[in-house]
Amino acid sequence: MTQLIAAHGGELVNRELPANEREQALKEAADLKVLEVNDWEVSDIELIGIGGFSPLTGFMGKEDYENVVRQTRLADGTVWSIPITLSVTTEEADKYSIGETVALKGADGVIYGTLTVEEKYEADKQVEAQNVYGTTDDGHPGVKKLFERGDVYIGGPITLLNRPDHGEFEKFYMDPAETRQMFKDLGWKTIVGFQTRNPVHRAHEHIQKTALEAVDGLLLNPLVGETKSDDIPADVRMESYQVILDNYYVDERVRLVIYPAAMRYAGPKEAILHAIVRKNFGCTHFIVGRDHAGVGDYYGTYDAQRFIEQFEDELGMTIFKFEHAFYCTVCENMASAKTCPHDKENHVHLSGTKVRELLRNGERPPKEFSRPEVADVLIKGMKQV
Ligand code: ADX
Repeated sequence: MTQLIAAHGGELVNRELPANEREQALKEAADLKVLEVNDWEVSDIELIGIGGFSPLTGFMGKEDYENVVRQTRLADGTVWSIPITLSVTTEEADKYSIGETVALKGADGVIYGTLTVEEKYEADKQVEAQNVYGTTDDGHPGVKKLFERGDVYIGGPITLLNRPDHGEFEKFYMDPAETRQMFKDLGWKTIVGFQTRNPVHRAHEHIQKTALEAVDGLLLNPLVGETKSDDIPADVRMESYQVILDNYYVDERVRLVIYPAAMRYAGPKEAILHAIVRKNFGCTHFIVGRDHAGVGDYYGTYDAQRFIEQFEDELGMTIFKFEHAFYCTVCENMASAKTCPHDKENHVHLSGTKVRELLRNGERPPKEFSRPEVADVLIKGMKQV
């Protein structure tokens, strides 16, 4: 039988009640004190609940938080790079007592779960921003979000009572137990995970397919939670992924599954979180290319690769680190500085801003940059925004 990779920390966490206990638990939760959670926190509750964030069983307490921020490890030494915390304002924090179980309610009125308050502690936002995002500049979208949050973190185990509704993406939704079963059924022993918050352009396709030459299957796992406003919306991207898979990929070698998390833009630190989650979903390999999870000029092109390399053995995954890929008009194929000897002017380079401008004007970027089928979906999508 195929032996799958162990979840991070050893065991795949499941913090969800079985269906037959859920109704009663929801009735009881309706009488609990409410703690309002935002969309970002809802996605964290879901990922903790379904085991995507294994070994976490709840929102981090102070010791885990401080260790993660300062040493990229949980208190027990397990590698972990980004704090998963629940924030409230100082006034709100007074409402909740240690030992009390509270209902975690979304802005939509849905009770997503419960949390038993084990700890309340002050966030150290300056240190968190500097150590996790590498900057305290609130021009950074992740830092801005961090500074907007309440100053007190509430730590404790959670129980997931309702998974968020993924609407039109539901058919591409799987939890880690399901993806693991799917990999077994497909007979895949080695699986490369691919994180993206963008449409799949030729460079993405190139690195995915290069990786695929070395493993059994590809999990295309686009992030569909909260992203910054100028990123291409998830619904448009999802359509573009289906089009490129239909036209350019071997069906038996790739699966499209959503990653329902919020984007932090934490570069190197987020690359580790992204790898850990994919390991929990059953991936043995993970791709980290140029400026992974980066934004603006906050990180160097290969910072994420250099950082994750230190933890690769402990993660127990193989990280495929790809050089910046481009199309070379002399080579007449996709290449990188490792494989192409020609001058830069032969390389097709387009900035995100330039691509968006072309698409908004209804123009396809060059076919060396983006597949025409993908460009057409994006052009249509941009018109609707
Ligand atoms: S990310 O924020 O989700 O990392 P993006 O969707 O652009 O952004 O990237 C997905 C993955 O592809 C990341 O690992 C990134 O480093 C890699 N990548 C993106 N563009 C290139 C490129 N031109 N060359 C090599 N790797 C790339």
